[in-house]
Amino acid sequence: QRILVIGGGQNAEHDVSTATASAVETALRERGFEVDALTIGPDGIWTHAQQSLGVRAIDSLAAAMRIIGHADVVFPAVHGALGEDGTLAALCALAQTRVVGSDLRAGAIGMDKWATKLVAQAVGIRTAPGRLVAANEIGDVEFEGEVVVKPVAGGSSFGVTLARDPARLHAALRTAAEFDRRILIEEVVHGREIDVAVLGEADGTRWAAPPLEIHAHGLFDTTMKYDGSARFTVPAALDTADHAALTRAALTMFDALGCAGVARIDFFLTDDGPVLNEVNTMPGMTAASQVPRMFAAAGLTYEELMSRLVDGASV
Ligand code: DAL
Ligand code: MG
Repeated sequence: QRILVIGGGQNAEHDVSTATASAVETALRERGFEVDALTIGPDGIWTHAQQSLGVRAIDSLAAAMRIIGHADVVFPAVHGALGEDGTLAALCALAQTRVVGSDLRAGAIGMDKWATKLVAQAVGIRTAPGRLVAANEIGDVEFEGEVVVKPVAGGSSFGVTLARDPARLHAALRTAAEFDRRILIEEVVHGREIDVAVLGEADGTRWAAPPLEIHAHGLFDTTMKYDGSARFTVPAALDTADHAALTRAALTMFDALGCAGVARIDFFLTDDGPVLNEVNTMPGMTAASQVPRMFAAAGLTYEELMSRLVDGASV
């Protein structure tokens, strides 16, 4: 099978997506797949084998579509907007090419932290109390206490600030507004930070890997995510009830959004049980990322995980 891995992308997570894509390519080659790669530049110009496919984004996209048309399976390893949000899944759906991971609908809702919150509430999963603010109304916003301010459709914590007092709120809102015109203000949830990875298999079943705990002591921010300083415990030390509650909540969100392939569902574990933080439908899969570690704890090598994702790809 010819697998086409797409990396890069036109958002703040470009470099993270490049790292994920290169890890995915290597693993698939090791499994014996024929692998080809496309990269989307920050300017929207697609490249193939280090060659730019056009001077304008539209021309490069047209050339990229011909390459996509020759692939048996596309692996869109692009985090964030214009990738993980369902854009690439939709492109493949239009081209009738099998694609790894969630479809347009699940990707778009998962990318939107506000919409995800509404879905979670509807299926009985707690989230942090929060409020949606438009970038053009940030001057009027008042909020008491310690809050987290986030772009609604961000990733890797770009544009996310912990505002410990109201004086810091406006700077935090302006930072988030650089990444999205919709901003989320959330009350800080005090709890352990636990991630759950879910894999949808080719036969339509899905299962959760052993949860992972992040030891961040504050915000698990962009720097800590990628400088290698993050400390994880896998499997997280959990009692039976917490383990069951986290797993059930992760599977419920996976199903409610209609996810496919792999998703990483992030929680805070409080004294009153799990509180959903967010859903990632194309989670980081670099060597330092959480997802490969969780599946390793389930006995699945990275190469095997990639191979199952390819098997589960659908049109
Ligand atoms: N958005 C980053 C890549 C993650 O989910 O790990
Ligand atoms: Mg995320």
